[in-house]
Amino acid sequence: MSSVNSTIELIQIQENRGETPGPTTCSSRLVSPPWTFDTQTPEYGPGASMEDFIPSDAPRQGQIPKEYRNASAEELDLRIRAAKHALGERVVILGHFYQRDEVVKYADFVGDSFQLARAATSRPAAEAIVFCGVHFMAETADMLSGPKQSVILPNLAAGCSMADMADIDSVSECWEQLEEVYGTAPDASGRVPVIPVTYMNSSAALKAFCGERGGIVCTSSNAAAVLKWAFERGQRVLFFPDQHLGRNTAKAMGISVDKMPMWDPRKQLGGNTSEALAEAQVILWHGFCSVHKRFSVEQIDAARAQYPGVRVIVHPECPMEVVDAADESGSTDYIAKAVAAAPAGTTFAIGTEINMVQRLASQYPQHTIFCLDPVICPCSTMYRIHPAYLAWVLESFERGEVLNRIAVPSAITVPARVALQRMLDVVPAPVARVGQ
Ligand code: 13P
Ligand code: SF4
Repeated sequence: MSSVNSTIELIQIQENRGETPGPTTCSSRLVSPPWTFDTQTPEYGPGASMEDFIPSDAPRQGQIPKEYRNASAEELDLRIRAAKHALGERVVILGHFYQRDEVVKYADFVGDSFQLARAATSRPAAEAIVFCGVHFMAETADMLSGPKQSVILPNLAAGCSMADMADIDSVSECWEQLEEVYGTAPDASGRVPVIPVTYMNSSAALKAFCGERGGIVCTSSNAAAVLKWAFERGQRVLFFPDQHLGRNTAKAMGISVDKMPMWDPRKQLGGNTSEALAEAQVILWHGFCSVHKRFSVEQIDAARAQYPGVRVIVHPECPMEVVDAADESGSTDYIAKAVAAAPAGTTFAIGTEINMVQRLASQYPQHTIFCLDPVICPCSTMYRIHPAYLAWVLESFERGEVLNRIAVPSAITVPARVALQRMLDVVPAPVARVGQ
């Protein structure tokens, strides 16, 4: 099966010829190279996140030199391989499962955000960690790696619209209001009123916020264990930014959805009454992933009708009714392992980012694997990383220039590491797959 990028190009060619393409994309702009969107006005780029509100101070990527923008795929391939070879152990390239195939093929480690956080610590001798993923992942890698190592994000505009939905000011304001409602004194068993839990998909400042307030970080692969940890220490949890991961995980632990009010940062008390907050067990931030929000129960019904016996697996960032209608839900690593372990001939309908689903389909031709969403809609920010940016940062590093460095100030790193370490003490990160 071809890569998502080549599928999108093919759809565009068919559309230009006036033919009706088989699959369609959510945006015809996806066919444009990512530097088309490297402008002074920040934007997430074409695709699922287009309607999300981007903060005005979101990192911007300036135009990369013409020699990279104009280079053919073959030239970029030769240049990346040559730079990687010349740099040897001086550089390690990490690739998230959602990266395009044209980038993942250069990664030394491929994995989910949890595994890549561990991979970032695994090569202390490397001078640079080139993170082919999104901004919060590069921040985490910087905080966990050695002080002399540089973390490089090939395209600074590769953010995460969900992570941007919770900012430090709004969360601090929420916290103050919760302290007014609940006070700060522990109960008879020593549990504090609220434990803050931030999803890995959040800024370093929010991880630091948690570290300073007895809180912790979680990822989609350890959220249940982390919530258990939090309830041993607190009467309730403030979970941000992803409402769906929070709701799905807490519900699976037996917590009633009635006890999970949503916090809308634009409203006083988040739009809740103090009575509702008094009953709350998990306060959910009003955040979501635009990629996973697209999956629906109708898509699951259609998959079941077309493929009786199909195994439906979705990521826990999907809405609750989608997770409930699926056979299983789990992190990207869970999905990859479930596919690898299945008997040959299994049919999978998968609810997660399309690059990962199409890659699994090519890696496991003995199965039938397809994405629940028939529309090709990659994560628009992951898609901002293209081989041209990788070639640019690698060749620059070879010449002694560190471009696009993500460096978290130590005043944030120190408390954020506390929250990250708590997570790693609860569940040690599994090892990422070694790339080709
Ligand atoms: P994982 O933690 O499963 O890698 O997911 C990260 C992410 O951004 C999902 O949308
Ligand atoms: Fe963020 Fe969703 Fe993209 Fe993951 S898939 S990086 S949560 S926008």
